[in-house]
Amino acid sequence: MTERPKILVTQKVPDPAYPLLAAIGEVDANIQEGSIWPYEELLLRGPNHDYIYSLLTDNIDDRFLEACAAGTPRLKMVANMAVGYNNIDVDAATRLGIAVSNTPGVLSDTTADLAFALLMATARRIPEAERYLRAGKYEGWGPLLFCGAEVHHSTLGLIGAGRIGKIVAKRASGFEMKVLYYDVYRMSPEEEATYQMTYMPMDDVLKQADFISIHTPYMASTHHLIGDRELSLMKPGAILINTARGPIVDEKALVKALQSGPIAGAGLDVFENEPAVEPELLTMENVVILPHIASASLKTRTLMATMASDNIVAHFHGQRPPNIVNPEVLR
Ligand code: DGY
Repeated sequence: MTERPKILVTQKVPDPAYPLLAAIGEVDANIQEGSIWPYEELLLRGPNHDYIYSLLTDNIDDRFLEACAAGTPRLKMVANMAVGYNNIDVDAATRLGIAVSNTPGVLSDTTADLAFALLMATARRIPEAERYLRAGKYEGWGPLLFCGAEVHHSTLGLIGAGRIGKIVAKRASGFEMKVLYYDVYRMSPEEEATYQMTYMPMDDVLKQADFISIHTPYMASTHHLIGDRELSLMKPGAILINTARGPIVDEKALVKALQSGPIAGAGLDVFENEPAVEPELLTMENVVILPHIASASLKTRTLMATMASDNIVAHFHGQRPPNIVNPEVLR
């Protein structure tokens, strides 16, 4: 590409991302903080760009990609500022010869920290206890006041043991927890020993763990991976943590399990139909809910933002984008 490419940035992102893009092309950006273009607006604005810098709230579907592929210039790449890219129809992009990239690795520690924070907050009822105190209800120490679940020396079950899951296991080792895991890819015995993680079929992990934490990507095969049946297998009093993607858990089934057991609580950073949340979840004291902030430290978000730019810059220079998810389009 000899001309300066046209680059669309769909949301306000950390500042260091922009000069990297402006050095190679004409940047057309939504700079209003917190503004998310609705699909129809994205469909109007998307075509006639070489590159789209997207966020996980952008629905980059087949229709959108077809429209961008028919534009002038034709779309060459979508760089998602997220490790997850379930908002993008990668098959359609590949068919149309459009590259897709993501931002893996740089957010793993920060996301694992938040998964652990949610686990602690839910087990020890921290938000509930704080609400009680702020409401002026605290009248003195009580032997039964806000007794929660024990974290140290308990059993953590990881559903998904990729980059983030393994770091959560490291956090758990500081609390002397036993760590069980299920993943479609079983680690080598050496890796299992390094991370002190024991593989089991998913049902056994669900039956034995005091805490279940989800760390799988969202795709057709993980849609409602945790539903009525799986929740019913969990230990009485167990706690479910989800920092991955909302639709991995059947939210209606989760509400039922929280109301009538066996589980005792849930810590959720993601929801099935974000930004909507099942109304019952909002009223339950045994649920800790956050607005999808697992990777939200300024340092991590800045690393993610520059990584997405770097992928575009590499593609522009004719290099392989370091985080391409459909490398077959480069052949
Ligand atoms: C991701 O990157 O996929 C997270 O959900 C947001 O950081």
